[in-house]
Amino acid sequence: MKTTVTFLLNGETVTWRGDPGMKLLDLLRDELGMTEVKCGCREGECGACSVLLDGVLVNSCLVAAGRVDACAVTTLAGLRTTARFAALDKAFARHSAVQCGYCIPGMILAAEALLVRTPQPSEAEIRVAISGNLCRCTGYNAIVAAIREAAEELAGAAAAGAGADAVAGDAARDVVGAAVGAAVGDVASVAPVAPAAAPGAAALCPTALPEALELLAAKNLVPCAGGTDLLAHEYAPPAPEGSELLFVHRIGELKALRWEGDVLRIGAGLTYGELLDRSQIPEILRTAIASIAAPAVRNAGTIGGNLANASPKGDAALACFVTDCTLRLVSVHGERLVPIGAFYQGRGRTVRRPDELLVEILMPTRWTQEGRWTFEKVGGRKALAISRVSFAGLVAFDIDASPHDTDASPHGTANTEPTITHLATAFGAVADVVVRRPEIDAMLIGCALTEAQTRIPEWLATWEAALQPVRGRVSAEYRKQVCLNLARAFIERSLS
Ligand SMILES: Cc1cc2nc3c(=O)[nH]c(=O)nc-3n(C[C@H](O)[C@H](O)[C@H](O)COP(=O)(O)OP(=O)(O)OC[C@H]3O[C@@H](n4cnc5c(N)ncnc54)[C@H](O)[C@@H]3O)c2cc1C
Ligand code: FES
Ligand code: FES
Repeated sequence: MKTTVTFLLNGETVTWRGDPGMKLLDLLRDELGMTEVKCGCREGECGACSVLLDGVLVNSCLVAAGRVDACAVTTLAGLRTTARFAALDKAFARHSAVQCGYCIPGMILAAEALLVRTPQPSEAEIRVAISGNLCRCTGYNAIVAAIREAAEELAGAAAAGAGADAVAGDAARDVVGAAVGAAVGDVASVAPVAPAAAPGAAALCPTALPEALELLAAKNLVPCAGGTDLLAHEYAPPAPEGSELLFVHRIGELKALRWEGDVLRIGAGLTYGELLDRSQIPEILRTAIASIAAPAVRNAGTIGGNLANASPKGDAALACFVTDCTLRLVSVHGERLVPIGAFYQGRGRTVRRPDELLVEILMPTRWTQEGRWTFEKVGGRKALAISRVSFAGLVAFDIDASPHDTDASPHGTANTEPTITHLATAFGAVADVVVRRPEIDAMLIGCALTEAQTRIPEWLATWEAALQPVRGRVSAEYRKQVCLNLARAFIERSLS
């Protein structure tokens, strides 16, 4: 099916007609001649294809062309007249940070995205910002030094009143700055900056939930949120044959984040980047999503996509399991609340019907506020690797629940011993679905601390019998041993 897509490309309006599931990378390079957008891995790993989408760094190989309708896309060419580009350009040359140059458009865009938000970044912040951009030639130290020097020069110029903000007629920077300003504020208020789209792709980019649900009920459509799973696989079509993508990124209800008592209602369409910008998310969720990939993937990938893709390796999913989240599925026929444990039917399979959207994740937070928790990823590399094994644990205590009147303190007051009120552990990447067995964790719930400590070996032995890891890139025995080590370390530390 062909669709008309209208968007701003480096400040100019572009109208294009073609397959909305095509990679933006291919549209930019092959059809619009933007060859400064480089093609490397085509699956989100190298950053060569980086562009700014409404001011946010993304990998254009993971963005569907239909997704950019009514959006602003900025490539390196769109930055060439800015003061920031001039400073980066000079600094890269001064530090000999360019050899073959293939990675450099992506590096500059990653630096631009960083400096717009963080004008004076630390070295650690620079390294994180370019962590999704691979360079085969230069070594990263020169690139980091160049970005640092450019930041210092720009800060000096801004202090002297002649910084990037003083550049007149800088349309590209205005586009980027406006969108970033919106993105770092209330995510629900991010507005498309390009002109209204011509009929076509707009029909597959609904802004209201009822409109999206009508479309899902009427047609064979596959929801596409960030597209970081759907578009990651070169040889898999972005959607099953005969179906089309329904872009859900503009639906306000999927972007909301609000409290209801001690339950945090998380819009399924919030990206990891948007969630990390919000101070109120529980630390266990923050740690889980901060471990996911590099900024460009985190800027696109959503928490809803991480749950709906039904991968046993989903990091956000693991945090949702140990907090006992409930998922809100909505269709034209109504809505249903599904406990996370009942959502999965196997690898890649859930109880979601094709006409339903995952709209919200309801996360109880009382245990995360009071309890002790851990989130661990064991992978082939320290960072940016999909896990070989992942583990999350959350334990909460009631300090007043278990008075030990017989165990009087030397001061004559009764000791109170904490009692375990909540224990949840979950293992990722070891089976077809995340492994969470509430009945095993229940062995320790209600136990006073000392009693729970004596029951740890029994709890671990039950887990040992229950865990049946599948063989993957590492052996089943290795996975099982790592799982048990992680569980032991967590429970002993938490109950000490
Ligand atoms: C380089 C790279 C590194 C990665 N690293 C990690 C990692 O470290 N940890 C990790 O957990 N993941 C990782 N991922 C996987 C991916 O980024 C995440 O799973 C992400 O959360 C998927 O979200 P999305 O919005 O991009 O999903 P999409 O690709 O848009 O969709 C994924 C699936 O969910 C469905 N879907 C999406 N939203 C909804 C909705 N609201 N209602 C119903 N169905 C919906 C889609 O139809 C599709 O089947 C990585 C991916 C890449 C490319
Ligand atoms: S081509 Fe490698 S991230 Fe897109
Ligand atoms: S300069 Fe060659 S890949 Fe970076």
